[in-house]
Amino acid sequence: MIKIGIAGTRGLSTLMGLKAIEDVEIAAMCDLDEKHLEESAEKIGGNIKKFRVFDDMLETDIDAVIIATPMQCHVPQAIAALEAGKHVMSEVTAGVTMDELWWLCESVEKYGKIYMYGENYIYDARVQQIKNMVAAGLFGETYYAEGMYLHNIGDLFVYPGGKTSWRSYWQCGIRGNFYPTHSIGPVMQWFPGDRITEISTFSPGIRNSLGLKQDSGTTTMCRTAKGNLLNIRVDCTSPRPHNMSFYHLQGTGGAFFSKAHDEDIDRVSFVSDENPAHNMKWQKLEEYEKYIPERYRNATDEQKKAGHNGGDFFIVEDFINAVRTGTQPELDVYKACQWTAAGLLSGLSVTNGGKTMAVPDFRKGVPNEEKIIKL
Ligand SMILES: NC(=O)c1ccc[n+]([C@@H]2O[C@H](COP(=O)([O-])OP(=O)(O)OC[C@H]3O[C@@H](n4cnc5c(N)ncnc54)[C@H](O)[C@@H]3O)[C@@H](O)[C@H]2O)c1
Repeated sequence: MIKIGIAGTRGLSTLMGLKAIEDVEIAAMCDLDEKHLEESAEKIGGNIKKFRVFDDMLETDIDAVIIATPMQCHVPQAIAALEAGKHVMSEVTAGVTMDELWWLCESVEKYGKIYMYGENYIYDARVQQIKNMVAAGLFGETYYAEGMYLHNIGDLFVYPGGKTSWRSYWQCGIRGNFYPTHSIGPVMQWFPGDRITEISTFSPGIRNSLGLKQDSGTTTMCRTAKGNLLNIRVDCTSPRPHNMSFYHLQGTGGAFFSKAHDEDIDRVSFVSDENPAHNMKWQKLEEYEKYIPERYRNATDEQKKAGHNGGDFFIVEDFINAVRTGTQPELDVYKACQWTAAGLLSGLSVTNGGKTMAVPDFRKGVPNEEKIIKL
């Protein structure tokens, strides 16, 4: 039996997934807010232990924690959990400072426990389908991608009771791309074995009338080790309908454009004799259904009920499998830190005229002198 503790009510997004897996028990719940704690415990049901203080929950016999507290809590709580011998699945982003990211990597290496980055946008069936189409060679050689997260979060800066929310500080109280991984994570699935090595961020400045320090949208250009280019846009203050998962992929053999709004469709186009490069037509992505991974196509009703056509089940399944096998998951601490760092460094870039910033290599064995921000 694997016993799980959940911190933060957002962690309930894993509830149905965890319940659908045998020999897994949600044994504890933690939230500073007593009301949320009671409501969450009731939703989970069973004989759950309740805690306001995270470190108290770590003293129980849980095997793993799901950290879904505000962003600035992720690293301190992850390190405390790893040190207490617990495996960790962390919400996005991995951390809020560059130094924290190094501490996180070192702790995963030191304590030898599983760390999985809970970047759920990667588990979108469409993202996985394009990944398989890239692997099958349909796009030829991929060299350019765009990812956009356009989500006006004006209603989240103050809690319903009137208290200022953490989002006013750690998201919209800073410059640059504060929420990069819902866009970077998915598009990086289409560049296997590649890594972001440098970024440069531009913005139109601060045009919101909310008194926030946040740019009115940022565009971060990311260069990869293999010479590919990513264009990552995040805008959480401008007035427009949401589109949190807009993507584009370009390869030597074709392109993918995701839907721009609810009435739109996802589309692809591939070069062939019937579809020559100088006069290409779009096709519906749904015509390529066979590339959707088998586990999504065969998802049971219970798995689908977890949310996002099974995606919310598969992310939890991958975490539990990593815990069971003792093998770090694909979404490991190094990817978490690389993608998060691209956002953290964007603040320095945008405030220095789009200055190019090197993204460090977080992987094990990198010498101390490399663990610095290079100006
Ligand atoms: N992956 C996604 O799609 C997605 C969506 C929304 C939020 N998130 C992430 O989930 C996290 C939480 O976001 P939210 O919107 O639920 O925030 P929130 O402020 O609504 O909720 C945070 C909860 O954590 C509790 N909390 C705060 N500090 C705590 C502490 N030290 N110990 C225990 N509990 C504590 C609060 O009482 C609150 O109930 C953030 O990291 C956010 O980035 C991810």
